[in-house]
Amino acid sequence: MQIHKSTGFLDWLDQRLAVNKLMKVLVSEYWIPKNINFLWAMGVILTTLFVLLLVTGFLLVMYYKPDINLAFDSVNMTIMKEVEYGWLWRHIHAVAASVIFLIIYIHTFTAIYYGSYKKGREMIWLSGMLLFILFSAEAFSGYMLPWGQMSFWAAKVITQLFGAVPFIGDALVEWIRGDYIPSDPTLTRFFMLHVCLLPLVLLVVIVIHFYSLRIPHVNNETGEEIDFEVEAEKYLSGDKKNAKVIPFWPGFLAKDFMYIGFFMIFFFYLVCFQFNFAMDPINFEPGNHLKTPLHIYPEWYFLWEYEILRGIPSENLGLIAFAVAGVSLFFMPWLDRSDVVAPAHERKGFFVWFWLLMIDLVVLTIFGKLPADGVTLGIDNSAIGFASSVAFFALFFVALPIITTLEKRSAK
Ligand code: HEM
Repeated sequence: MQIHKSTGFLDWLDQRLAVNKLMKVLVSEYWIPKNINFLWAMGVILTTLFVLLLVTGFLLVMYYKPDINLAFDSVNMTIMKEVEYGWLWRHIHAVAASVIFLIIYIHTFTAIYYGSYKKGREMIWLSGMLLFILFSAEAFSGYMLPWGQMSFWAAKVITQLFGAVPFIGDALVEWIRGDYIPSDPTLTRFFMLHVCLLPLVLLVVIVIHFYSLRIPHVNNETGEEIDFEVEAEKYLSGDKKNAKVIPFWPGFLAKDFMYIGFFMIFFFYLVCFQFNFAMDPINFEPGNHLKTPLHIYPEWYFLWEYEILRGIPSENLGLIAFAVAGVSLFFMPWLDRSDVVAPAHERKGFFVWFWLLMIDLVVLTIFGKLPADGVTLGIDNSAIGFASSVAFFALFFVALPIITTLEKRSAK
């Protein structure tokens, strides 16, 4: 193409960077089905939360000190009391870190409910699951940074899990910590992971997640297989009413901005009035390796998996169960043997399965927070923990393949 005298700034840019074509490919001719509901806004809300975490994180890291003798005060004194609005950036960061898991779970279970993980959408699912694991690592490494009691003891318990690896377990724990107990080298390496390596990898995987949506396209409320080329033609030729698709911009994003607006009201209500739920009171005491807290538990979003770790009575089996539970959702596209892409309420057996899984996860989460040696409604908490852990695996690895194989047979 010949460079010629430009008619304006955009034309000048277009001649050099093909911005018009880029905008067409990325937004104005990227087609989204019309028949989707508010649950499809979760992806954009997640992106917004991720940006909020990055921006507030940049502000916090200007004053944070990754040193076990300084970290606690740099957070609880410098940032919370001395730096102008430091408390606000910290509250936004902590609340966003917690709420992002709520939205990740809604986004993931929406995908399960509508079968958005199969028939060409497997890569969207796998990159999404990778995002879940990476966000878990990001949350865990961030939790350690204030070096309070819970930071120290969570670091101790979680790094200790690697001790169960056969033959090299003890050496591995020491290697990860850089010491015999979590101490300065542990804090500085987790600081590096939290502010540098993991955010970089997260950015790359988010781009892969978006890219993997491109060819199979976003699913829709009824699971209808839309011919996107035909429908896009209709839209472009002016028949916008009958076309089953709308462009990403302005059609889809403009509506998402409305959902982001509603979400922000809820979010800033939490930041300003309910921020305590995102910060454990025990963590306002400096980390002390000689004083074990009475009851150690993780943040709410890890409780279901933590309960599976505790629920299985044998230590090694519990660890294996914990690890398998963490990655079990990766296998969803293959554990679901049926080709049907439809909302769960149109798939009888799957519908029952879905809600049983939800109930089981809620029970695991509740009991993950209660002391293992307590009693609830006359039943030992540990017995409930064991039963709901076994139920989790039975639902995923036994019930799901059976129900969906039967569905496949009856669909023939
Ligand atoms: C912070 C991390 C994530 C971000 C920023 C993100 C972003 C998005 C966006 C923008 C969409 C398109 C619109 C929508 O359906 O909401 C999407 C779709 C999707 N995401 Fe995520 N996502 C994330 C995590 C996950 C996780 C953990 C999973 C679970 C495995 C997942 C699975 C999916 C699936 C299956 C779709 C396709 C939905 C459909 O076709 O209807 N994502 N994601």
